[in-house]
Amino acid sequence: MITRRMLMAASAGVAMLGQTALTASAQEDTVKIGLILPMTGPFSSTGRQVEAGARTYMEMNGDTAAGKTVELIVRDDAGTADQTRRIAQELVVNEGVNVLAGFGLTPLALSVGPVLNQANIPAVIMAAATASITKESEYYTRTSFTLPQASVPVATWANENDINRVVTLVTDYGPGIDAETWFTKEFTENGGEIVEAVRVPLENPDFAPYLQRVRDSEPDAVFVFLPSGVGSLFMRQFTERGLNEAGIRLIATGDVTDDDLLNEMGEPAIGTITGHHYSAAHESPENEAFVESFEEANDGMRPNFMAIGGYDGMHLIYAALEETEGEVDGDALMEAIKGLSWTSPRGPVSIDPETRDIIQNIYMREVEEVDGELYNVEFETYEAVKDPAKAEDSAE
Ligand code: DHB
Repeated sequence: MITRRMLMAASAGVAMLGQTALTASAQEDTVKIGLILPMTGPFSSTGRQVEAGARTYMEMNGDTAAGKTVELIVRDDAGTADQTRRIAQELVVNEGVNVLAGFGLTPLALSVGPVLNQANIPAVIMAAATASITKESEYYTRTSFTLPQASVPVATWANENDINRVVTLVTDYGPGIDAETWFTKEFTENGGEIVEAVRVPLENPDFAPYLQRVRDSEPDAVFVFLPSGVGSLFMRQFTERGLNEAGIRLIATGDVTDDDLLNEMGEPAIGTITGHHYSAAHESPENEAFVESFEEANDGMRPNFMAIGGYDGMHLIYAALEETEGEVDGDALMEAIKGLSWTSPRGPVSIDPETRDIIQNIYMREVEEVDGELYNVEFETYEAVKDPAKAEDSAE
């Protein structure tokens, strides 16, 4: 005899099965991207810019790729490597993410290497920029830049512009050491002299004593790398210590003249020469559309080079999904990523199939006032620059 209770149990079972099937098909139709960034702490401007860049891409291009819904899951690691790794594990195991992305600083990017290798999951580095990171796992790719890529053209410019004696001043960790090494190599091979190499701590930097040392060395110029977000403090102390008045030129990678802080830096920033891959003032229809959408969605905040890393990182994921026709297997996605090329708001870019790093133009820029605002105005282009640190590896 079939009891009422049996019927109820059976229909509950069917309902549950139905629900499971629905969840599974919703999952199959969704691609989950775990975006891990420093949203709080001293490097929160990087997190804010990268997230806004990624969201601007989705705003402008929709939330589907190869017929799948793209879901962004944003998590804050507060700039601490232990947390980055723990969050990555949690996103893989509990959320079932298909791709990890973000990574605001080199140690944060490096911390997830073992997770990627275990889970066969791609990691799109949208911010961190030490050259060697991408060698640590086959699952890393990068849409930011590398410090050797940006520093070598600055050295060439210095060699060609009557700058003979330079002090280098960099933050004392991966990207700073890359900047110091590659600027020095290029500059001295072409006849320049490094008078002194100064390294500043990453945590709570006070530049004043270091700038005094620079001033005392009386160089023609100081070459600087600092991580994104501290440029305005540096510029204030540079002026307070009278380096401008002493006729010491400031040359740097574009991390020092962040687009979102530049107006705050004011007059002292004018004339600073930098090399970098992105300026909000880059003249192209793609960049005009990007800057307009970004500013509209973010209360007028200007996108900096971190934002373009987030924007292009999303493009890379969408384009790889189109290439695999929606297949989310990590190895398939990595194969699809290699060699992809597109027109970014920064200019033409591609992913080096050998290194999984971005190949891009590096622009020389000068800080100028345009219509009452400060911009990094591009005046020279080095086309399709590969990471020089990797070029050296393959020649060995
Ligand atoms: C890194 C961080 C930055 O803010 C930056 O501008 C460049 C490099 C890094 O930690 O890799």
